[in-house]
Amino acid sequence: MPVIQLKTSIPGPISKALSQRRDQAVPRGVKQLTSIFVARSEGAVLEDVDGNRFIDLAGGIGCLNAGHRAPAVTQAIHAQTNRFLHTCFMVTPYDGYVRLAERLNSLAPGTTPKKTLLLNSGAEAVENGIKIARAYTRRPAVICFEDAFHGRTMMAMSLTSKTHPYKAGFEPFASDVYRVPFAYCYRCAYSRKFPECEMHCTTVLEDTFRRVVAAESVAAIIAEPVLGEGGFIVPPSEYFKILRGICDKYGILLIADEVQTGLARTGKMFACEHYGIEPDLLLTAKTLGGGLPLAAVTGKDYIMDHTGPGALGGTFGGNPLACEAALATLDTIEQESLCERAMLLGDRFRRRAEDWQQRFSLIGEIRGLGAMQAVELVRDRESRAPASEEADRLTQYCAEHGVILLTTGSYGNIIRLLMPLVISNDEFDEALSVVESGFQAVLEPQAAHSDPVHA
Ligand SMILES: Cc1ncc(COP(=O)(O)O)c(C=O)c1O
Repeated sequence: MPVIQLKTSIPGPISKALSQRRDQAVPRGVKQLTSIFVARSEGAVLEDVDGNRFIDLAGGIGCLNAGHRAPAVTQAIHAQTNRFLHTCFMVTPYDGYVRLAERLNSLAPGTTPKKTLLLNSGAEAVENGIKIARAYTRRPAVICFEDAFHGRTMMAMSLTSKTHPYKAGFEPFASDVYRVPFAYCYRCAYSRKFPECEMHCTTVLEDTFRRVVAAESVAAIIAEPVLGEGGFIVPPSEYFKILRGICDKYGILLIADEVQTGLARTGKMFACEHYGIEPDLLLTAKTLGGGLPLAAVTGKDYIMDHTGPGALGGTFGGNPLACEAALATLDTIEQESLCERAMLLGDRFRRRAEDWQQRFSLIGEIRGLGAMQAVELVRDRESRAPASEEADRLTQYCAEHGVILLTTGSYGNIIRLLMPLVISNDEFDEALSVVESGFQAVLEPQAAHSDPVHA
């Protein structure tokens, strides 16, 4: 019995009416990626207000690794609502914050003792990571990467790479931010080929210290272990070890932004573990709150303790409900072996996608780590011209046929998987069959026309 059930055309009449009200009430800047208004969700399945059922390969942009309404998470939230909702941890503390900090401290890669600060969003974790790094090093500059995404608040936006829609018109940005190319081997900034390049993109950092910003002025290098919004770009496995070495050589902190890669998505609790490095500061958010807003900066204790009392925090950071949800999310990840599951899902996808690559010239590269898999679409494999419109048409087709799928990348030409890791094999295969017919439809619009209404 298929999971996907479409009773109306997509969007259905109720979603359409809500979209119109949304357009009147909500600014255009808050983009609407699909026109499906949700009524309920469970596991990897969404039901919309018109009674249509979808398989969710987006997970609220990677926030639901443990699934929609994971039973342990909803139970923990219910239990906490019967105790108290908010007191502000800085005024009258509660144990949930402390238990979560202890848990993240013990999970974070490396042996150095850690401390954790809790916040509300990924961008807020980025802001605080930079504050802490600058305070500790007493240096102003931050190095970040082309195609990086770190959020929409002032510092986070300044560190983000993509101009439209994130930055253009919002100048001036925070100062002392320097950007260098990431190891995006499929589109190498230096037109080199791995491994013959001998990781030229890391050696140019030394040149950056000579020609752009002095190493002794740099507080931190901030990097996503796999670029998320930049296109699921996985650097060669030794890349982060080299970055770690450069940071150690010059007393620069390495900040790993694991907001998207963290908490089992790549097959490890943190993607840094794939590279065998210990970042100085580790940023988490998204899945951490199990669906509630929560973020963390977990760092080496002597760095985290460098700022004075009152310098860090916020009214809602580490909200009691969100802390309990996070502890239950971590339990679910461990008890349901979601790291192993991520690896299996990644393999399952790759087998399918490699077959697509034989058939669809649109597929330039398949890449990823664990379940964080993506397909880069190109007009042709020679020029590698980004097939951005085709990627949009593909996700549109998927939504109309019962699958929520997102694009990514600076050119918007990459489709990416961020499904809840509790998705069953049958659900996953069903969703991938829709994606597969989407490829056919995009390449041969007339031949692959099919009626999406099932019921
Ligand atoms: C790597 C990374 N950092 C930071 C952020 C910002 O997180 P938030 O949207 O919670 O502010 C995101 C969001 O997508 C992200 O992917």
